[in-house]
Amino acid sequence: MPNPNLIPPIAKAINKGELPLGVFNSPELFELEKEHLFAKSWNFLAHESEIPNAGDYVQRYIADDSFIVTRDKQDAIHVVLNACRHRGRKVCSVEKGNARNFSCPYHGWVYDLDGALIDIPYEDEGYGKDAIDHADWGLMAAPKMGIWRGMIFANLDPNAEPLDDYLGDAKWYMDFYTNKSEAGLEVYGVPQRWVVDADWKLAADNFVGDGYHTFITHASTIQAGMLPAQSGDFLLDGVQVALEHFGIGFARQDPLFNSLAYPPPMMEAMRQRFNPEQVSLMDNGVSLPTHANLFPNLSFLNAPGAYTAMAPPAPYMTFRIWRPLAAGKTEIWSWCMVEKDAPEEFKQASYKAYLISFGTSGTLEQDDAENWSQISLPAKGTMASKLSLNYSMGNGLLEPMDDWPGPGNAYPLDFTEFAQRAFWKKWITTLEGK
Ligand code: FES
Ligand SMILES: [Fe+2]
Repeated sequence: MPNPNLIPPIAKAINKGELPLGVFNSPELFELEKEHLFAKSWNFLAHESEIPNAGDYVQRYIADDSFIVTRDKQDAIHVVLNACRHRGRKVCSVEKGNARNFSCPYHGWVYDLDGALIDIPYEDEGYGKDAIDHADWGLMAAPKMGIWRGMIFANLDPNAEPLDDYLGDAKWYMDFYTNKSEAGLEVYGVPQRWVVDADWKLAADNFVGDGYHTFITHASTIQAGMLPAQSGDFLLDGVQVALEHFGIGFARQDPLFNSLAYPPPMMEAMRQRFNPEQVSLMDNGVSLPTHANLFPNLSFLNAPGAYTAMAPPAPYMTFRIWRPLAAGKTEIWSWCMVEKDAPEEFKQASYKAYLISFGTSGTLEQDDAENWSQISLPAKGTMASKLSLNYSMGNGLLEPMDDWPGPGNAYPLDFTEFAQRAFWKKWITTLEGK
């Protein structure tokens, strides 16, 4: 049972623009997050392109809960809990595949692609004819499921607002990632996964609004020519936008960052698809958006990268989930996304640029995760856990731009912490149940 006095002092610190370091390695907070945050949030699980054919499935997680995301013979997508109704064994033990149905390896109960129970071995002998109503004993569907632009989400709260309402104004910005072409996105390859000794909130905090770290954390990647920029301050005089549940950063207009190295025909296609206000941003002094986070733990990154210092830069895009495993421990899930109708050479160049920067062995990835573990591991310390962190950047210095065409509060600098402060407010009010 978590300590009831845990939350109020943290809320007080957040309201002052501070944060106790201990939030990055607290077993008590982790339990609260599982119950009050991840079980009540819209969690991204998969992209439709990962299960294109009838019978395709992937295994995905919301914190500790395992789900099977399937496509049935009628082309409908289902999200069902991966736990047999007999003894609870995982019905599906592999990460992806194609199946006619799921047969539990323990005693052989068989479930259809939509989770319906279709067979119990020796049912008449063991239970009696018609004693078990199969309709009552199928795999449990996630209480809520929603799909937006091919992105499959689930929510464990049966009273959750619809996904579309939750996304709300964030969709205006998520368009830049998801609506670049007529055909939409597909996952290139499979999502890569790895575990880091870091709290999930550090990764979300970084992607939601930490433009500031780029000039120093990623300096060596820039020096090596893999992040094509003169220096790491391309976000300095960009723009940061804070919504209640979403934050996003734009780099300044710059020959490399303006179009993130998308070739002219793809830029033209974007102009045709985006609305006039969205297009006006592209003509108005900022790049296409780079980093973002949708509360709680779905991050986006779109940037130019070169897979060798000699290669021309190519744009890459990653969607990623920071899956909490324990206090101070996160499983990173990282998808490389490409436009489905882009030429194959573009997709390959984009994938290579992604791998070298944000794949498992990516240089930018490792730059970041090393910082996060150097915060999370010491955060357990008796003295360190109480350390107050400064979250005041931009406070009293910047006002929201009044000529910004998009929703939310936009600030004329990405070296600022408005989106991070909004993230922490959303985090604490969610834990408070507000
Ligand atoms: S646990 Fe699945 S059939 Fe027994
Ligand atoms: Fe980074």
